[in-house]
Parts: sequence; structure tokens; C-alpha cells
Amino acid sequence: MKSKYMMISLFIIFLQFITLSHSKSIVKNLPRFDGDLPFTLETGYIGMGEEDAMQVFYYFVESERNPSEDPLFLYFAGGPGASGLYPFLYQNGPLSFNFESSKRHNITLELNPYSWSKVANVIFVDLPVGVGFSYAKTWEASRSSDSILAVQGYEFIRQWLVENPKFISNPLYISGISYMGIIVPNVALEVYKGNERGNQPQLNIKGCLLINPLSDKFIDFNSRVEFAHRLALISDDIYESTKAACADGDYVYNVPDNSLCAQNLKRVDECTRRIKFGFILEPMCNATDMVPTCKDFTDTFIQTWVNYKDVQKALNVREGTIEKWEYANTSIAYDLKKNDTIYYSYDVWSTIASHKQLLTKNCQVLIMCADHDMVFPYLGTEKWIKALNLPIESPWEPWFVRSQVAGYHMTYARSGSSIKFATVKGAGHALAMYKPEEALTLMDRWLASHAYLSFSS
Ligand SMILES: *[C@@H]1O[C@H](CO)[C@@H](O)[C@H](O)[C@H]1NC(C)=O
Ligand SMILES: *[C@@H]1O[C@H](CO)[C@@H](O)[C@H](O)[C@H]1NC(C)=O
Ligand SMILES: *[C@@H]1O[C@H](CO)[C@@H](O)[C@H](O)[C@H]1NC(C)=O
Ligand SMILES: *[C@@H]1O[C@H](CO)[C@@H](O)[C@H](O)[C@H]1NC(C)=O
Repeated sequence: MKSKYMMISLFIIFLQFITLSHSKSIVKNLPRFDGDLPFTLETGYIGMGEEDAMQVFYYFVESERNPSEDPLFLYFAGGPGASGLYPFLYQNGPLSFNFESSKRHNITLELNPYSWSKVANVIFVDLPVGVGFSYAKTWEASRSSDSILAVQGYEFIRQWLVENPKFISNPLYISGISYMGIIVPNVALEVYKGNERGNQPQLNIKGCLLINPLSDKFIDFNSRVEFAHRLALISDDIYESTKAACADGDYVYNVPDNSLCAQNLKRVDECTRRIKFGFILEPMCNATDMVPTCKDFTDTFIQTWVNYKDVQKALNVREGTIEKWEYANTSIAYDLKKNDTIYYSYDVWSTIASHKQLLTKNCQVLIMCADHDMVFPYLGTEKWIKALNLPIESPWEPWFVRSQVAGYHMTYARSGSSIKFATVKGAGHALAMYKPEEALTLMDRWLASHAYLSFSS
């Protein structure tokens, strides 16, 4: 008898331990949103690393269609260092701000009719630790890098699925935007390799989805000059002269001061420095004149909203774990040529080799590129994909939404794997914010084209 009680109390202690390191809850309401949330939102923490010293926060939105069969997306915001709340609130997530009516201190939320949760289960994660509401309990646990983050991403989704076993058999996709192009393919590779090692649970991974990704730190940053030329921001003469003066298509890394190349780049800079790289057709925002329609200031809106006590309470954020929610952790976020910081090492230069490996794993990849994004121009992506020399499954052609050309796409395929490259016409870097319907349509059609869907019961 006694030992039975002991077992039970041990079990209870064990349960308490579990709930301490992992916790999740359903969020029914959010301040500044009228009424109950018409979708299922779960937030929580996954404990990772030694003694769960990493506490990783996430926002999980169940599919509003058929959660038990629809795919599961793990979505990484950019940066590194941008919170999952970003895409959750104003890109492909279920809510958005009313840009027109939002005043700095009176934010109102509305539904995003083109949320990816219309057709898929989506987890928006705050990774690496130190981002959003994720926090570390030790110094060691607060350090990360491109390569460590890939392993952490795999660990996160594995643990999350242990906590949420009813989603284990859903098709899994690893996805993300911008800098996460450096991370996402490697998370996917970790998943495939973990499966191959026999790790439990086995994850039903099907592919990756990337939006305006950074894939190769040489190709992508260097594609900006040619992009500026194609979009008529620099003249033929400036382009030809710069191209001739700068060796090996390098406009960024190996440019000696006072060289002819540097002189040419000065002209390029004069022509482009007052252009908003995130969307070349939009005006640059003026920080001393915060008009709500200037979408850059969404950062400020989000930051104000999410730092309200009642909002953090509604999201079940653990009190006292972080001082202030910041839209981006600047000690982690990458800038061109930025050196490693004490928290983060930018140790992956290119993911082309990772993509080559994924091509041997029955992996389906969709890459969406906004054609007016000069942060990571579509040109760079087009260039490295082409260099893979893959057989073309379907050639470049327009794709449509409401019978209008929404962009162009082509698909490469080899032995069960594929890479679909699609542009989105008239979009900027935060693609789904500019073209929400197009982004959802593209993603949904891509999913529907996967053979396994027709076999699922
Ligand atoms: C905030 O905005 C809402 C909706 O526009 C409005 O009804 C409410 O009165 C405003 N609250 C404040 C404090 O201004
Ligand atoms: C940025 O991340 C580091 C590493 O986790 C953390 O110590 C720091 O508090 C974070 N800074 C902000 C502003 O969140
Ligand atoms: C920014 O806005 C302020 C206030 O309206 C104005 O005085 C200033 O000239 C603007 N700056 C630029 C660069 O447009
Ligand atoms: C990075 O470190 C190198 C070597 O210490 C230094 O020369 C360079 O200026 C640093 N770059 C930046 C952007 O701080």
C-alpha cells in the first residue's frame, strides 16, 4: 500500500516537474480584439536543453479547416532575433492590426481573412532563446548560432509533438522568412537525419517553405546591384561600369577603399540609399512623424500592445521572465558583414549544400519571392536554384489569382524531390503583409499538388 502511495506521489511530483518545464494553455480572448477568438490559439513554453534551461515560447494556431489532417507548419520569423508574434500578428497569422485606425495607444486587432490557419496548423516560435518571450535560465543556454539553431529547431518540434501527440501524423513543413532561409533547410535536414537515426517520435516531414530567403550570403547580398538595374533604380551605364569595375560580381565583401569598384558603388549608393529596400515602391518612413499607414511602425504598435500587462496575462506569459518584449533582439539580429556577438554566431554562410542534400530526401520545397523586395532579391534565389542544374518539371509561366497575373512560377524536380520557385508580383519583403491572398493561395495550391494529400483518408 505504502509503496503505491509513494508511486502516486512520485508521479504527481513528476507531473509538476513536467508542467513547470512545459506548459501550454488555450487563449480564448485577447485584449483589443472584440469577442472570443474565432480560431483555436494555444500558447506555451517548451523546455529544452540541460535541465530545461531554455524556455521556448510559441503561438500555435489550429487549422480552421480540418486540424486533424491539415499540414503542420513550424514557422520561423526573420532576424535572427524577430519574434514569432510578428508573422502571427501581421503577416500570415490569424490576426492583424487595423493600420488605418490604429493609434499608438489605441490598437485594435482584426481578423486576417488570408491567415495560413485557414488551411494549416501553424506554430509561430520564438527562437533562438532571447527572442520574444523565450528566455534562458543559464548563460550557456542563452547562446546560439546558425548551426545550433537548426538543431534547436528540430528539438523544439520533436518536443512539441510529444506534448501534442495528436499532430504527429500530420504532414510537417518547416518554414520561415528572410534570414531564416539560412536556418530552415538545416532544421529540415536535422528532422530527416533524426528520423534516419530512429529518433522517436518519427516526424512526418514533407518539405520546406521559404519566403524571401537569405540562402547564400554571397549570392543574395550581391544580387542587389543587378536588381537595382533591372528595376530601373540605376542606369545601364552605372550598372555596366560597376560590373566591369568590381571583380567576380562582388559588390560587397572584397571592395578595397578608393578602388574603381568602390567609386562605382558610391554612384549606386547615391541612387538607392533613399529607397526602402523592403519594398522599393513604398516611401521611406520618417521616425519623427509616425503615420499609422507607414507599415514600419507596426513594430511600435506591436511593442506597445504586447507590453500591456493584460495582454501578457492573456497570452499566459510567465510573469517576471522577461523585462520587456522587443520586436527584435538587436544583439542577435544580423546585418550585412556583422561580426559574431556574445550571444550568437553567424556560422552558416550558405545553404546550397543543404538544399542539395534535401533533394535526396523526398523533400518538397516552395520558395516565394516578392518581386519588389531588395532585401533579398528574387534574382539571388533564381541564380542558386539554376546552378543546381535540376530537371525542369514545369517551365516559367504566370500564375493567377482572380484571373489576374499574381506572379510567375517554375518547378524543378528530381527523384521525388522538388523545388518550386514562385514570384509574387508587387510584393515587398514581408510578403504576406503586402499580398496576403496571393501568399495563401500559392501555399495552398502547392500543398494541394502534393500527391500524398490525395491518399490521406
Ligand atoms: C480605441 O478605439 C476604439 C475603436 O476605434 C474606440 O471605440 C475606443 O473608444 C478607443 N479608446 C480610446 C481610449 O481612445
Ligand atoms: C537578447 O538575447 C540575449 C540572449 O538570450 C538575452 O540575454 C537578452 O536579454 C536579449 N535582449 C533583449 C532586448 O531581449
Ligand atoms: C520627418 O517629419 C518631421 C515632422 O513632420 C519633419 O519636420 C521632417 O522634415 C521629416 N523628415 C524627413 C526626412 O522627411
Ligand atoms: C568585425 O571584426 C573585424 C576583425 O576584428 C573588424 O576588422 C571589423 O571592422 C568588424 N566589423 C564590424 C562590422 O564591426
